[in-house]
Amino acid sequence: MKEVYVIGAGCTPFGDLHTRDAVAMAREASFQALEDAGVDISDIDIFYVGSVRSVTSGSFLGNALGVRNKPVTRVENFCASGMDAVRQAAIAVMSGQARIALAVGVEKLRDATRRGLGFRSFHPVFVFGATPPGLFALAANRYMHTYGIGRETLAKVAVKNHRNGAKNPLAHFRKEITVETVLKAPIVAYPFGVFDCSPVTDGASAVVIASRDVAEGLGKAQVFIRGFGLAVMHTEPMYDPSFKYTGFPVTTEAAGQAYKMADISRPLEEISFAEVHDCFTMTEILNYEDLGFAEKGEGWKLIEEGVTELEGKFPVNPSGGLKSFGHPIGATGARMIFEVYSQLTGRCGERQVKNAHTGLAHNIGGPGTVSTVMILSLRS
Ligand code: COA
Repeated sequence: MKEVYVIGAGCTPFGDLHTRDAVAMAREASFQALEDAGVDISDIDIFYVGSVRSVTSGSFLGNALGVRNKPVTRVENFCASGMDAVRQAAIAVMSGQARIALAVGVEKLRDATRRGLGFRSFHPVFVFGATPPGLFALAANRYMHTYGIGRETLAKVAVKNHRNGAKNPLAHFRKEITVETVLKAPIVAYPFGVFDCSPVTDGASAVVIASRDVAEGLGKAQVFIRGFGLAVMHTEPMYDPSFKYTGFPVTTEAAGQAYKMADISRPLEEISFAEVHDCFTMTEILNYEDLGFAEKGEGWKLIEEGVTELEGKFPVNPSGGLKSFGHPIGATGARMIFEVYSQLTGRCGERQVKNAHTGLAHNIGGPGTVSTVMILSLRS
């Protein structure tokens, strides 16, 4: 397959964007990305838009960007939607079907009458308590029971990610917090309090992908897509009798695919930093293990020992993560690629990871139903 490059990226501020609808946000992120790449909308051969709730079809980009008579596909894959849109764009360019592709992730969540994201409605009885905090809390309780950690360890994930997000001008929450604040916050679904949860956020992000010859022609052949993976399970893994609640097998599967493609066997040594799906504090610790950054039952040590701090040996979520940057579901994966690209091109100011040469991005959705992993590297 052909080598493909990220040649530009854009992102709206994330947060409570009451004055912008999904069309306005998608437009803003896309034109930023196009300008960054130095290409025009007419140069784009193929488009993908990732969204869970805010977009009905590819024609959405007809409204947002004025696209006419070009292939546009809407991608929906739970929390992996945005990164799956980037993955589709990369595959289109790798296959030679397109020379330049645009992937957009967008979600408008704030203008709703409910709190949180609401219940899922797949079953008349199981639906009660089946909110994302409720479902991820099942895994948190099992992990805490099995490996003997307390809420303080989870709280340190939130403290780290808020500290990073405070340095990020686009983040939803730009305030530092303490372990005490996290522990004292009202409980949403035990052991998660408000500060263990990612917020409900509006936002959009966009990424331009190009073939090697196009990237070289534009003087933009700097960051290439080194590997990716995507794995899907059935819709309710948590009700599967074999599910252990101490990790998400789909993440391990998606990571395995990406590591194989990128020829990476020692992720902690060969990757400089990661943006992982910290929808809840516990999820970040489970991700450390599922992505192979730590042995099973030992992920919590990375946070306790400061390994994943911005200044640590292996920074995780230098952007502030979902916890602080925010989580507009279908936009998040594209936003992670925006962050990895920004880090690798040295644009991150106060939150810049030193000597970054390779970055990993990861989503988990469902929960536990789908995971995607993508690895970007600087061209040597
Ligand atoms: N982290 C930190 N602060 C938060 C927060 C969060 N997750 N959510 C809300 N806040 C703050 C707000 O900034 C606001 O502060 P202010 O009064 O100083 O402005 C205050 O808490 C109340 O905000 P509000 O929007 O009314 O929150 P809420 O009580 O309606 O919702 C949660 C709080 C945690 C229930 C909601 O954020 C949530 O459901 N999060 C999970 C989203 C989710 O499931 N995502 C999918 C993951 S897979």
